[in-house]
Amino acid sequence: MTKEEKYKSLLPQVQGLLAGEPDSLANMANLAALLHQEMGFWWTGFYRVEDEELVLGPFQGPIACTRIAYGRGVCGTAWKEKRTVVVPDVEQFPGHIACSAASRSEIVVPVWHKNKITAVLDIDSKEHGTFDETDKKYLEKMAGLVYGPQKDIWFAAGCFWGAQKFFKRIDGVDFTEVGFANGQTENPTYKEVYTDTTGHAECVHVRYNPDIVSLNKLTELFFKVIDPLSLNKQGEDEGTRYRTGVYYDNQKDAALLSEVFSQVKDALGVKEMPVELLPLSCFYPADEYHQDYLDKNPGGYCHIHWWPSNESD
Ligand code: SME
Repeated sequence: MTKEEKYKSLLPQVQGLLAGEPDSLANMANLAALLHQEMGFWWTGFYRVEDEELVLGPFQGPIACTRIAYGRGVCGTAWKEKRTVVVPDVEQFPGHIACSAASRSEIVVPVWHKNKITAVLDIDSKEHGTFDETDKKYLEKMAGLVYGPQKDIWFAAGCFWGAQKFFKRIDGVDFTEVGFANGQTENPTYKEVYTDTTGHAECVHVRYNPDIVSLNKLTELFFKVIDPLSLNKQGEDEGTRYRTGVYYDNQKDAALLSEVFSQVKDALGVKEMPVELLPLSCFYPADEYHQDYLDKNPGGYCHIHWWPSNESD
């Protein structure tokens, strides 16, 4: 079995194991145990954000350091930089905290809840180079499940700065990230996408709790902030990178979205509209400069001006 296949079969088990239990600490304990046992890791556990530091949470493996400061070690770095950190060789990571001399490589995944990092999932291996993009993808998906079910959807709504600010304010949204979707080149930079030749759309990845906000509601809100009849132009922004679209990762969502699209077309009295409805073929996160851009630069231009305060079903 490949690592991808192992994670794929583990994901529904994780969802089943955590379903219905509202206590995140209990869920962290069971997720750590399941991952540790099934994936054969050396150390698997959580550090929780408590005031200004990380405090040891449920784990499996040898005893570990109890407190880690913001920005320190791999864990504190993942928290500070708000991203997953993969370390192929811990000796090469400046400031790595060696709880155990046996650890050779490590991955630390932030746990997002209501747009904040509330913990990190830290996994250590006794071998070098154990962790890669596959671990990152699945562990990021699993980590947030400690707070309840989570689903993913990708919205291209023109300029992604406003789209992120818009979606992160919706009750039930746990995590957002801007990036480039459904283009032809790998790992495009903003500059490359800006030339309008790579085929990517500016897009926001939305991870949400379907028990709090439905895909229907999110899509309805999406249509409130775009002009669905405008091809490759939203507000002052023009180009294929500013096209609109909804990109999904499963057929159930495809069917539901197709229904919503039909209703929107009927309401507009049109047979066609230039809003894409497609499976997500790729998504590359944009660099940190573009994440939460309008929070950092409130004067930045975007066609989206209306922000939901507490939208949910
Ligand atoms: N190595 C981590 C500390 C935690 S232990 O690996 C369990 C770090 O550098 O943050």
